[in-house]
Amino acid sequence: MHKCPFMSFPLILAATAGLAQEGVQDADLAEAKALVERFGTTLQKELKAAMTDGGPQNAVKVCRERAPAIAAEISEESGWTVGRTSLKLRNAELNAPDAWERAVLVQFDERKVAGEDVATMTVAEVVESDEGNRLRVMKAIPTVQLCLSCHGKIVNANVGVALAENYPEDQARGYEVGDVRGAFTLSTLR
Ligand code: HEC
Repeated sequence: MHKCPFMSFPLILAATAGLAQEGVQDADLAEAKALVERFGTTLQKELKAAMTDGGPQNAVKVCRERAPAIAAEISEESGWTVGRTSLKLRNAELNAPDAWERAVLVQFDERKVAGEDVATMTVAEVVESDEGNRLRVMKAIPTVQLCLSCHGKIVNANVGVALAENYPEDQARGYEVGDVRGAFTLSTLR
């Protein structure tokens, strides 16, 4: 029998192939993507500035303070809940995936192994929740060179100290360029 690695997620695969996802409006998907774009570029801009200013050990603080703050700001303005998550966490308190997010993250890793471009992987699905139908969207975050000084196999001693102080349980290391570092995760009632 032909075995497809995405067999357990037929709807999600349809969405990535560019087909309309049942129950997900194009306008909603476009809005989610715009929010991801805004979150990602704002964060990267502040990260780069902080790295230039005081090196990566200084930028650890920026990630810790600014990533949640930017997410909160965009959430408040947009009416979506916006955040980041991963299978290997640095901040488990804030960023741990729920069951749906975990399944999508596992699927992103499988799709990467199968040769798909991480930068364009997106999943959207309307799920039933206690409050009503919730539209959930995730977009994979690829690891790029800039990330390695804090998420790579080797981090310099100063970064190591800054990470150990703030994240004694840190698991978010050992990544290589092209890996799925994690995902943006968004949801809103629909
Ligand atoms: C200067 C160090 C630094 C760099 C460079 C850096 N990060 Fe991080 N990253 C952090 C810190 C610190 C956290 C924890 C933030 C928090 O407490 O919410 C984090 C958390 C994350 C998370 C949330 C999941 C988790 O593990 O808690 C993702 C996703 C992430 N980083 C992706 C990236 C990507 C992609 C890049 C490259 C574009 C990158 N990071 C570059 C320090 C860094």
